[in-house]
Amino acid sequence: MVQATPFLLVLFLALGAHGLSTEKCNLTGTWVNDLNSNMTIFNVSEKGDFTGIYHTAVSATPKKIEESPLLGPQHLPNPLSQPTFGFTVHWSFSDSITVFTGQCFVDEDGKEVLKTMWLLRSRVENIKSDWKATRVGYNEFQRLK
Ligand code: BTN
Repeated sequence: MVQATPFLLVLFLALGAHGLSTEKCNLTGTWVNDLNSNMTIFNVSEKGDFTGIYHTAVSATPKKIEESPLLGPQHLPNPLSQPTFGFTVHWSFSDSITVFTGQCFVDEDGKEVLKTMWLLRSRVENIKSDWKATRVGYNEFQRLK
């Protein structure tokens, strides 16, 4: 028991220090992605729900791009260390919907980064065209200073 005590103390301190040093990643704020799209996420509620505004830099349609609302949940508590999240963008200028899912990380330089994947569902005229209605992709977001 006497020999085990210092070992347990070192283990406890190591685990405690690691727990304290785990950096938090907070979704609230303005972000820009690798396509130069940007989004602002407003406050995350106590239930983990959030809203925001998405301004895409690109579009699959020829329509004029406009800001569009986004809505989603994240895992709690906020800010949880590196939480998973999802959100839907209800495009205001097209008939499409995009769903994003991802995780908020703190990288080796201490910078927050959102690693996401998305599905973009476009409206097609008939069921025979369903096969070409969904695009899939990857976006990485950095916090806009
Ligand atoms: C549309 O084309 O109907 C609406 C705009 C879709 C923009 C897509 S969503 C996934 C990808 N990431 C972006 O930031 N923009 C594109």
